[in-house]
Amino acid sequence: MFAAMLVPLIMLVWAVVFDQLGANPAQALVRRTGDWTLRALCLLLAVTPVRVTLQLTALARWRRMLGLFVYFYASLHLLSYGWFDMGFELTDITHDIAKRPFILVGFTGFILLSALALTSSNRVVRAMGGKNWQRLHRTVYAVAELALLHFFWMRAGKNDFTQVWIYTAIIGLLLGWRILRYLISSNKLAASPFLQRVGSYLF
Ligand code: HEM
Repeated sequence: MFAAMLVPLIMLVWAVVFDQLGANPAQALVRRTGDWTLRALCLLLAVTPVRVTLQLTALARWRRMLGLFVYFYASLHLLSYGWFDMGFELTDITHDIAKRPFILVGFTGFILLSALALTSSNRVVRAMGGKNWQRLHRTVYAVAELALLHFFWMRAGKNDFTQVWIYTAIIGLLLGWRILRYLISSNKLAASPFLQRVGSYLF
């Protein structure tokens, strides 16, 4: 999994070195790193549903690594924007973030991801206590929603929503699975034999 998650980085470096980023390399880098952040986020959110449904307990080990890869690609995305789009001009960057709502939304997602990355080590988990740690790390669901809003808002300017709907459907299914699992495990769906039956296949 670690090697697989490095492939996008190798592809990006390859495209930079061999000048394959097209007419606007800065924009291509920002967009490609944004795409990979979102894809890594989808993979991360898929770990628990796949682990539980297919009873592959070993997959739990991938969660932290995938989470850190989400943060890694998000950092590359922010770096490409700050460096190639804005020339590392801090005043321009802060004005741009405040002026363009879709960037503010992306930036909020990045701040939340930073909190999750900083609290990902075993030492911090022990210091915080499992319950508090779990509560904080549920913020990843908010990050997924902010990421979709960021993507939607950016594409709204171009009136091009096809990919936005595809990612919305994927993330909707992965979050919907969790909601259904919660409702069934807390016995809130006892009145619906159909959903109980669906749950017996899924969880
Ligand atoms: C959770 C974190 C983030 C995710 C998942 C994310 C994801 C994305 C995605 C999927 C795109 C569109 C790529 C495409 O069109 O193919 C994008 C574009 C963009 N994002 Fe982010 N982003 C995040 C955070 C940020 C941050 C922190 C910034 C800057 C402060 C930022 C600035 C931009 C910009 C400038 C664009 C491109 C706009 C354009 O080319 O017109 N994003 N992002």
